[in-house]
Amino acid sequence: MPCHSKLWLVVAATALITAGTVEVVHRYLAGDLFNTSESSPTTSTITTKKEHSEELIREQLARNYAFLSEEGMDKVRKQRIVVVGVGGVGSWVTTMLVRSGVEKIRIIDFDQVSLSSLNRHAVANLKDVGTPKVECLKNHLLQIAPWVDMQCYNELWNIKSAERLLLGDDMNPTYVIDCIDNIDTKVDLLEFCHRNNIPVISSGGAACKSDPTRVNVSDISKTEEDALSKSVRLRLKKRGITSNIPVVFSAEKPDPRKAQLLPVSQEEIAKGGVEQLAALQNFRVRILPVLGTMPGMFGLAIATHVLTTIAGYPVEPVEGKNRYKMYDNFLQSLAGQQSRIGKVDQRVPIALNEIPYILEEIFRGKSPISNFSTRLTLSRWDPSKEISFQNCVVMTKEEQKSHEDRVLNGGEKLEDVYSQEVLDRVAKRFKEEEYYSHFR
Ligand SMILES: *[C@@H]1O[C@H](CO)[C@@H](O)[C@H](O)[C@H]1NC(C)=O
Ligand SMILES: *[C@@H]1O[C@H](CO)[C@@H](O)[C@H](O)[C@H]1NC(C)=O
Ligand SMILES: *[C@@H]1O[C@H](CO)[C@@H](O)[C@H](O)[C@H]1NC(C)=O
Repeated sequence: MPCHSKLWLVVAATALITAGTVEVVHRYLAGDLFNTSESSPTTSTITTKKEHSEELIREQLARNYAFLSEEGMDKVRKQRIVVVGVGGVGSWVTTMLVRSGVEKIRIIDFDQVSLSSLNRHAVANLKDVGTPKVECLKNHLLQIAPWVDMQCYNELWNIKSAERLLLGDDMNPTYVIDCIDNIDTKVDLLEFCHRNNIPVISSGGAACKSDPTRVNVSDISKTEEDALSKSVRLRLKKRGITSNIPVVFSAEKPDPRKAQLLPVSQEEIAKGGVEQLAALQNFRVRILPVLGTMPGMFGLAIATHVLTTIAGYPVEPVEGKNRYKMYDNFLQSLAGQQSRIGKVDQRVPIALNEIPYILEEIFRGKSPISNFSTRLTLSRWDPSKEISFQNCVVMTKEEQKSHEDRVLNGGEKLEDVYSQEVLDRVAKRFKEEEYYSHFR
């Protein structure tokens, strides 16, 4: 078994670098982790984490722990995620979720690996052509993270099989990822998740796209230049759903000089693949020009979005149209604070269009307490003064809560709660505002 021993050497060599874990690696490998002599990984019984060394799992995920923190990774590892459609987009999503520590993943796809899909697939090789996509992915990924509970459903997801495939066998998914490329099925899946309050994220169309700078994550109500999401949006609207579904899409504009939809080739017709596809109601029979990198980018964007969201990592996607909403939230939060601290009058003498000035100009887009720039809001500073440009401070939502508890409601003195450095910085910001105010 030359392949076996090579793998062994690589793992052992890597472990040597991490002093102290060599012993563990030896014991680990003495077990049946890489013992594929008698059975294929498909039928492998290695599924429970108990049989694997937690110490090595944590070493394998060490960089993710460093990034997402203990608490965040705890959440990531406990996820139960369903990926529907494991082609060019879904294979990347699944691969990165498995590599990142998610321990329960169900993958659903009726299709088989085709030769022409190797340009964009995350793991498939020539030997996989003609085999079910779900099995191909599982076999590959269990060699990376054998402790993961990967469930394959080599079936077509549709509204009839919806409940069984998504919820059956106690799946109770924490996230559903839509990587389907058929419009009707896609809409059914999104509607099902939306109505059942299952967090879902959807992939837009990657065909004919090539500009990495235009890949975007936005609400379904805000996608542009993506025919797939547009059709999905219009159909969802007819079913009474207009927002609250994040979509990864590309806003790249079409151009006559760029790739366009092609008619079905004679070759494909000769192969008979077309009839087979057509037999499945409504499935596209046109050949889409796809640059292999783009579905991968979509998949990685989805996996990143899901991981950071789950882990509670501060993310604030730049969404042009959403800026306004954030400013409005600032104002609402400041007004809401009035009642939280027992003021009768909820009105505040600050206008919506003045919020960007306070946030960007005065406070430079970050909290003077922690320097954090995400999950920000606005708070009254000194409880003895009224709200004004010189008595409201940009801070994180957590800091606002603590400020209310201790200073605004708790009666503690600012000097007792904050360091001199923070007090000085806030004073400096107010002073600058006073200066700016002469020009406003
Ligand atoms: C590998 O599997 C074979 C067949 O089941 C078994 O006889 C052998 O003991 C296993 N080797 C290890 C190292 O577990
Ligand atoms: C996509 O993201 C950019 C920020 O990178 C944003 O300005 C834009 O409004 C988003 N939406 C579209 C359709 O481009
Ligand atoms: C925030 O940044 C300033 C420099 O701009 C620095 O002096 C201060 O120590 C930082 N505060 C924190 C809490 O990191």
